[in-house]
Amino acid sequence: MPIKQYVSKEQFEQERQRIFRRVWLNVGRVEEVPREGDYFVKDLPVCNASILVSRGREGAVQGFHNVCKHRGNKLVWDERGSSLSHACKFHGWTYTPDGQLIGVPEEDMFFHFEKQKCGLTPVATEVWEGFIFINLAPQPQETLREYLGEVVDLLKGYPFSKLTTCYAYTLDLKANWRILRDSQLEGYHAKFLHRRSLPGFLVNKDDSSRHLLDVKLFTRHSMLSLYGNPDRKPTPTQMVAHRFGTSVDNRFGAAVDVDRLPVGLNPTRSANWAFDLYFIFPNFHVLPMSDMLITHNMWPVAADRGLWEARIYLPAAENGAEWFSREYAKCAIRDTWLEDGSTIENTQWGLTSGVITHQFLQDQELAIRHAEKVVNDYLTGAY
Ligand code: FES
Ligand SMILES: [Fe+2]
Repeated sequence: MPIKQYVSKEQFEQERQRIFRRVWLNVGRVEEVPREGDYFVKDLPVCNASILVSRGREGAVQGFHNVCKHRGNKLVWDERGSSLSHACKFHGWTYTPDGQLIGVPEEDMFFHFEKQKCGLTPVATEVWEGFIFINLAPQPQETLREYLGEVVDLLKGYPFSKLTTCYAYTLDLKANWRILRDSQLEGYHAKFLHRRSLPGFLVNKDDSSRHLLDVKLFTRHSMLSLYGNPDRKPTPTQMVAHRFGTSVDNRFGAAVDVDRLPVGLNPTRSANWAFDLYFIFPNFHVLPMSDMLITHNMWPVAADRGLWEARIYLPAAENGAEWFSREYAKCAIRDTWLEDGSTIENTQWGLTSGVITHQFLQDQELAIRHAEKVVNDYLTGAY
């Protein structure tokens, strides 16, 4: 696969306009805004936009451009919080969580002023299984349901809303966003890069060069189903963590009741299933497991800079032992991601050096090829 798109500033500008300002983008979950007035702010440098996501009076989650209608100041500066009114710090124009303008100091000094027409500019916002998506197109060309396609039915029944404890990490990396994306779009690296944190984890004991149980390429999205080695020996600490619920390491074989999984999870119904990876174009990875959920949002910032937001969702702990298990999972998974992150900037360095013109991708890395095909489809006008 050619590497030009990993280093091209021109392509990056096209991707901003033709992809990121036109597709549905996941920006958070409904549990982040449970009550009226709760909000969070999502700055999206790739879209030159700051988005205010808030829970309004009718209970709906709504997205707005976080821009004051008076003279354009950023309205809400906190990353998250709760308030029934947002006052702009410049001149005090004040808005409700529904985006209505309700307060204008010295209002009588404006000419022909219609306050009700000066609310915040809404952004198309829809929710799938608790995941909040926004679309910056003035008129999105399809609904979120249409955009997600098969993925909706395949994951129906997964207990997304029960995994209410969330741990999040953010990495700010000097690399093009697709290197971040690719780092979580194949399992080929696990055997080697994760030999310290996950020794033997994804090694197929029957056929050592097959680490995937299944692959599905959808029109724009894709999924990988990964083999988990049932003979892998947990360490004594891991064994303790397993006994009390979720940990990074208890997802094999007998631990999984495959018949109770949604139809799209472990599609081969293998007893040696580790987890599945659903990649939702362009930058959202969803990894539903038997006992926890992992997500990645890979955000472009510049042609050579990206933000990796990684989250772990778990059921709430009910006692101290379960807390231990969750803390263990949080740290163990962090160690694995540090290994992933360690290659990203140096891969950018290598690609920028101009020494190679192409990458070699084996068959089990085909989700990377597919994602680039869809990028090209968008850039060449197929959508
Ligand atoms: S720019 Fe917001 S009140 Fe003036
Ligand atoms: Fe990895």
